[in-house]
Amino acid sequence: MTKIISLFNQSGGVGKSTLTMNLGYALAQNHKVLLVDLDPQGSLSLFMGLEPSELDKTIYDSLINDEPLLTHSYLDDSLHLVPSNINLSGAELELVTADMRDLRLKDTLSIVPDDYDFILIDCPPSLGLLSYISLVASTHLLVPIQTQYKSFCGTELLLSTVARVKKRANRDLELLAFVPTMFAKSNSQDNRALEAIKEQLAEFAPVLDPIPRSTAFADAVENHLPLSLHSPKHPAVKVINNIANFISQ
Ligand SMILES: Nc1ncnc2c1ncn2[C@@H]1O[C@H](COP(=O)(O)OP(=O)(O)O)[C@@H](O)[C@H]1O
Ligand SMILES: [Mg+2]
Repeated sequence: MTKIISLFNQSGGVGKSTLTMNLGYALAQNHKVLLVDLDPQGSLSLFMGLEPSELDKTIYDSLINDEPLLTHSYLDDSLHLVPSNINLSGAELELVTADMRDLRLKDTLSIVPDDYDFILIDCPPSLGLLSYISLVASTHLLVPIQTQYKSFCGTELLLSTVARVKKRANRDLELLAFVPTMFAKSNSQDNRALEAIKEQLAEFAPVLDPIPRSTAFADAVENHLPLSLHSPKHPAVKVINNIANFISQ
């Protein structure tokens, strides 16, 4: 069965899109993987070398106009992307009055070829309808969380949103893990935040090893590459591969 995993956190800039791309690439070494950009900002599409404003078809056309999903191959044939662009920002409003709006994404994904082992959905930084339909469409949920006090504060809202979805719309949604991101080992505030994350969130799901803070991620993305191809020896590559192993268990 295809695992459909939302990478969700309503805060922006916590490393969701970066993790989606790098984790997607790591998983694609042994599996067939589809990435879905569900953020109107189209960061993931941009990271993966597309120019969002020039795209003719995006996830918007499938969600709103029932068009077949148009996927792009990335680097090799086991990793595909459904891109997004600013058109998707209109979908949030259009979905309000759409039939079966909660199920739109689930329905769209139900017709993709079933040989994908994983579908990763890069959620927008909000608690709006797009994130909601992503949680409804998913079997699993992965929560990137920045090792900073401020982002830790938003987790109560995040958890209550997940609880709301689990109560009715998607009872089987499974919170896989929290992934602390942008962790600087030498920074005492980051260490305190990481301890707080472990102490308070471990009762809900495993807290995985933190992804180190490094400008290498931005450098890699500038070249439209996952970190493992851009800097194969970078210590964060191992951390990402471990997350991929955890998910494929
Ligand atoms: N582990 C990291 N260390 C340092 N910078 C990072 C890391 N992960 C992501 N970034 C950078 O932080 C910014 C936001 O990352 P992004 O993945 O777009 O976050 P989100 O999708 O949550 O908004 C980008 O410029 C990205 O290159
Ligand atoms: Mg993003």
